[in-house]
Amino acid sequence: MELLKPGCIGNVELKNRIIMAPMGIRGLCDPDDGYWGKRVRAYYGARAAGGCGMITTEMVFVSQAVEPVAKELLDLGNDKHFQAVRQLAETVHAYNCKLSIQLTAGFGRVIPPYVVPDGVVPVSASENTNYFVPDYPALNTRALTTEEVEALAQSFGSAARRCREAGADCVELHGHEGYLMDQFMTGLWNRRTDKYGGSREKRLTFAREAIQAIKRDAGEDFPIIYRFGLTHYLEGGREEEEGIWIAQQLEALGIAALHVDAGCYETSWWPHPPQYQKPGCMVEHAAKVKAVTSIPVIAVGRLHYPEVAQQAIAEGKADFIAIGRGLLADPEWVAKVQRNAPEEIRPCIGCHEGCLWQMIAGEPTSCSLNPICGHETVWQLRPLQKKKSILIIGGGPAGIEAARAGVERGCEVTLFEASSRLGGNLWPASMPPFKKDIARYRDYLIRLAARLPIDCIFNTSVTAEDIKKFGADVVLLATGATMEPPPFDDPRVVTTVQVLNGTEPRGTKVVIMGAGVTGCEVAVYLASKGKLVTLCARQDLDELDMDMVDHNNRFMLLRMVRDAGVMVLRGTIPLRIEGNHVVAERKGVEIKIDMDSLVFAGRMFPRTTFHKELANLPGVISIGDCVKPGTIMDAVWGGFNTVRELQ
Ligand SMILES: Cc1cc2nc3c(=O)[nH]c(=O)nc-3n(C[C@H](O)[C@H](O)[C@H](O)COP(=O)(O)O)c2cc1C
Ligand code: SF4
Repeated sequence: MELLKPGCIGNVELKNRIIMAPMGIRGLCDPDDGYWGKRVRAYYGARAAGGCGMITTEMVFVSQAVEPVAKELLDLGNDKHFQAVRQLAETVHAYNCKLSIQLTAGFGRVIPPYVVPDGVVPVSASENTNYFVPDYPALNTRALTTEEVEALAQSFGSAARRCREAGADCVELHGHEGYLMDQFMTGLWNRRTDKYGGSREKRLTFAREAIQAIKRDAGEDFPIIYRFGLTHYLEGGREEEEGIWIAQQLEALGIAALHVDAGCYETSWWPHPPQYQKPGCMVEHAAKVKAVTSIPVIAVGRLHYPEVAQQAIAEGKADFIAIGRGLLADPEWVAKVQRNAPEEIRPCIGCHEGCLWQMIAGEPTSCSLNPICGHETVWQLRPLQKKKSILIIGGGPAGIEAARAGVERGCEVTLFEASSRLGGNLWPASMPPFKKDIARYRDYLIRLAARLPIDCIFNTSVTAEDIKKFGADVVLLATGATMEPPPFDDPRVVTTVQVLNGTEPRGTKVVIMGAGVTGCEVAVYLASKGKLVTLCARQDLDELDMDMVDHNNRFMLLRMVRDAGVMVLRGTIPLRIEGNHVVAERKGVEIKIDMDSLVFAGRMFPRTTFHKELANLPGVISIGDCVKPGTIMDAVWGGFNTVRELQ
């Protein structure tokens, strides 16, 4: 398998073609433990132990002289964090895994407002508005002076030297996604008139000086990887033609490898691809660079599907693949591919909730499906001193995760499932073709449950009396959630759950009531089946009624709704059905919408059939949606943490 064969980046040989992509770990850094302390080493160490050829760290500042923000990030502008890098290198090397440190110039115009200390004026190549709050002049960037840019470029040299002396194998330059380094390269954000701006050649000056400084200070033979986006997919941003030119220029500057992605903050569903993007969504971008260069090319983006990753290498579209979130969901991804057990890989579902959003919230970067990620040293599942019997009612994600954790803690687990199959609401949730990630996860859970030494009893609806009689030490109620009934009693009305379970809405003209995530997904799904869909959003907002936390996923879903030709009516509440019309209130006025059928995307409510009757029984705990309907992360973390905390 080409994916598992050794390969070289400059003079560094990797034992296979899989590199862990750089990912921020803000909440894991502990200032009292050298920033990259025990927790960080355990986090990266788990991924190194899992078999990948090289770990790329989160982005690290080459200097915080011009951007004194984000104090929780490492700063290699001085020796303060030298030991942190050294200890991490030792940890990773112990597994015959290489270490690449990602070096950043900073955020520039994409600096999150919450990390900017009072009185600090953000910087960029030119005066630019802040991406997040363009109407807030206090966060507009000032253009760095020529001397400041020169000093910043030189800082790459000393930072890379420190990395090399501390034992890192190479560095990666953070030149993508519209961060500060990319702002220098891009005419849209760089309108300078000194040596750093103007023509595309001059816009490359900052990167050129940084590369030259690294070669001078860390050695000509110290490999430099450059991460950049082939195109920004943004009007006025980089087009592919310029991206190709940049790749060739970087090769000529002596770069050891190119790490290719696409997009920027404005088009963040490229650099942070949601579940709606196809697997290997940026492989073709890498292939275009590979076709015009002769140094190794690294592809990234939803490459945690082993067959897609292997194909990218085998077809010569990339020399290496970088996997980010796939290694958060399953640190043993590589080991499982190596032992030909890809079906055992816990597959990332592209939700961004446990990783990116935990990071943004200042929590340890983790994973919705793998809570132990980022908590390696603090959330172990230790065997219980006194073995317990656990009875689980409900075989959705919360119930199965609780069963897995229970087995790891040495418990005897019995699981009752009312239907004939495990997976719960993951079945309807995985129905649209663009939700294949959920189907993969559902099937993974079903296989996992089959491997676990637990008793699974299907087609059995238990009563409170049955549960009491069973006499388990711990009863976990994981009975899930159910949708509120539709407000109209009409045979042409169905719910989104019914549609996702296979019921076809009547006729062609379908009105969807409710534009939350499920309403939007069902709208796209039905439009793809030829229905003329009108989507009524309760709220008069750009994001419709979406409560989805992750903006990358939300942005992409909104575009899918638009591209599917769905008619969106904001601030519109259906009131009643009259003949072949839905009568709705829109901004205080009654309107009529043609319909053959109406799909109700209502709220979910906890299914609490026998919860009251069991309230006084010791050892009964509710987990997942039957506590509060939420996301897959809520369900999995609920199941995991409840069992982890059992005494
Ligand atoms: C939590 C999180 C933090 C990230 N931080 C960085 C970063 O510090 N530097 C960077 O270049 N990319 C960063 N990325 C982007 C990833 O390196 C990667 O390109 C992206 O997740 C797509 O790859 P994947 O589909 O394998 O996850 C981050 C992504 C995530 C999910
Ligand atoms: S939180 Fe979601 S997107 Fe992030 S690694 Fe886990 S499954 Fe993937």
